[in-house]
Amino acid sequence: MEIKGKLAVVTGAAVGIGRAIAQRLAAAGASVVLADIDEAGGEETRALIGSGRFVRTDLRDDDAVAALMSCEPQILVNNAGGGPSLRPCFPDADVGRWTASLDLNLRAPMLATQLALEPMRRAGGGVVINMGSTAGLGFGPHVSPEYSAAKAALIRFTATLGVLRDSHQVRVNCVVPDWVATSRGLAEQAALPDPGPPLVPLETLTDAVVNFIEDDSLAGRVLLLDRGQPPRMLAGDPL
Ligand SMILES: NC(=O)c1ccc[n+]([C@@H]2O[C@H](COP(=O)([O-])OP(=O)(O)OC[C@H]3O[C@@H](n4cnc5c(N)ncnc54)[C@H](O)[C@@H]3O)[C@@H](O)[C@H]2O)c1
Repeated sequence: MEIKGKLAVVTGAAVGIGRAIAQRLAAAGASVVLADIDEAGGEETRALIGSGRFVRTDLRDDDAVAALMSCEPQILVNNAGGGPSLRPCFPDADVGRWTASLDLNLRAPMLATQLALEPMRRAGGGVVINMGSTAGLGFGPHVSPEYSAAKAALIRFTATLGVLRDSHQVRVNCVVPDWVATSRGLAEQAALPDPGPPLVPLETLTDAVVNFIEDDSLAGRVLLLDRGQPPRMLAGDPL
């Protein structure tokens, strides 16, 4: 699908990865709707881009998600997420705290995707991109079980939806980055005694998003962006 002239919703667009994706899509000619709970950051992204619209949205609120999605985008980037750095995590966090993480990292992207489908089908097609994390891969421990479980579910959710390409003309794909070279990420890495491999460049991530939108053959795919490694597709053709 061509990006130019399309309407794109990017969640979590006030900083970091979401901001970079929004800037990239706008540069490619999309009209961008920037959604975030952080009003100052969202407006700053809008000013940096010089166009688009910021919609203050708490993605844990179903009504707010519905209001956001009423703009009927052809591109939806479910980027907002996070939480492993916010301690305490499960099992020390109370139920309200860890379910809030599930709501942000899993429920919100599922709901936004559901609300996008019919308008995208009516418009002749669309693309949804979910932002996973390597925290959602494998079988090892993780400091935030709720974040890790939500990202694992988001990856599996994406793969199950490959079939929507035929039924709705909607392609749902997932990017799964390791630690990304946002300004926060680079500062945190610099403070480590052993910084390890280079962080995933923001451009590698935005390239992956653009490719998922432009390549009409990609649906139900999961792309791993590991530190110091070339991008690797984990999921093949949908079942
Ligand atoms: N940064 C990394 O190294 C990394 C690695 C793997 C995956 N990811 C994933 O990439 C995505 C973006 O990461 P980031 O590092 O840019 O995150 P970040 O924490 O810097 O930004 C997340 C954005 O989401 C917004 N947000 C938080 N709660 C919200 C809510 N309830 N409603 C609306 N907006 C809300 C924040 O205000 C912020 O602008 C997340 O899904 C994260 O899990 C990041």
